[in-house]
Amino acid sequence: EKAGASITRFPLIPVKGIPLMNHIANNWDSIWAFCPDPSDILIATYPKAGTTWTQEIIDLLHHNGDSEACKRAPTPVRSPFLEICSPPPVPSGLDLLKKMDPPRMIKTHLPFQLVPPGFWENKCKTIYVARNAKDNLVSYFYFDCMNLTQPEPGPWEGYIHKFMQGTLPWGSWYDHVKGYWMEREKRNILYIFYEDMKENPRREVERIMRYLDLSVSDEVINRIVELTSFKKMKENPMANYSCVPPVVFDQSISAFMRKGEVGDWTNHFTPEQSKMFDEDYERQMKDVNIPFRTLI
Ligand code: A3P
Repeated sequence: EKAGASITRFPLIPVKGIPLMNHIANNWDSIWAFCPDPSDILIATYPKAGTTWTQEIIDLLHHNGDSEACKRAPTPVRSPFLEICSPPPVPSGLDLLKKMDPPRMIKTHLPFQLVPPGFWENKCKTIYVARNAKDNLVSYFYFDCMNLTQPEPGPWEGYIHKFMQGTLPWGSWYDHVKGYWMEREKRNILYIFYEDMKENPRREVERIMRYLDLSVSDEVINRIVELTSFKKMKENPMANYSCVPPVVFDQSISAFMRKGEVGDWTNHFTPEQSKMFDEDYERQMKDVNIPFRTLI
């Protein structure tokens, strides 16, 4: 059998208007019916906003900074991805969750309105990580080049328009960041920013710790900051997605741990693209004031 013969870039099917990969859409009823335990923690993001980084921080907080304990399995096994379902035999997020005891760290990219209602009924702690649109877009572009299960990104210029129109998997970035922002007080969601994590990781690790009602020593916080640096995570086989075979994530095209910076968009947007993007951004974001920073 030819390498990669069984991998296809999955088409998107709308679920309540949000484009999702066909396996997710076809399995939607069981995803929507998933009922978490009140002790479960939800980590919600638009794709490429800093999910893996936050998952690692939370796991280390739960294990008092024990790096070996946090190397017990790769990220998606330690912290299942709720809605993901690849064709068998790859286990779906729901299959993994069934086999785990709470409290579990559950990852999702679903927009607020598609999160199974059990999370809110059970008042699960929820951490939302947001990243500025331009860096998020650049990161998603490279990811779509290397993740051979997502639709072809096509050329860069066209990709910018797909992002602005909300036709990429999991839909509109603008609606996503706004959806959780509007609900953050009512649902007690901790809303954090990738740029703040880069600027002062210690402050954000402490913020996450307090939100989760955990308490670790200063020394352990320092260790967690060190262990979750971009460089350390890039070298960590249990955090860098080397667990995913190259027929799915072709890291020779682009590494999962690609660059890990704020402002890389300046290396990709032309001045014209930047102007066009900013004008559209003003229109799409005029109803909210979320303090995004595109440079730090
Ligand atoms: P880049 O493509 O800009 O490098 P997600 O985990 O949500 O898929 O997000 C992936 C993005 O977060 C990638 O961005 C990745 O490099 C970055 N990232 C992962 N771990 C990081 C860390 N410890 N510090 C900074 N950025 C990190």
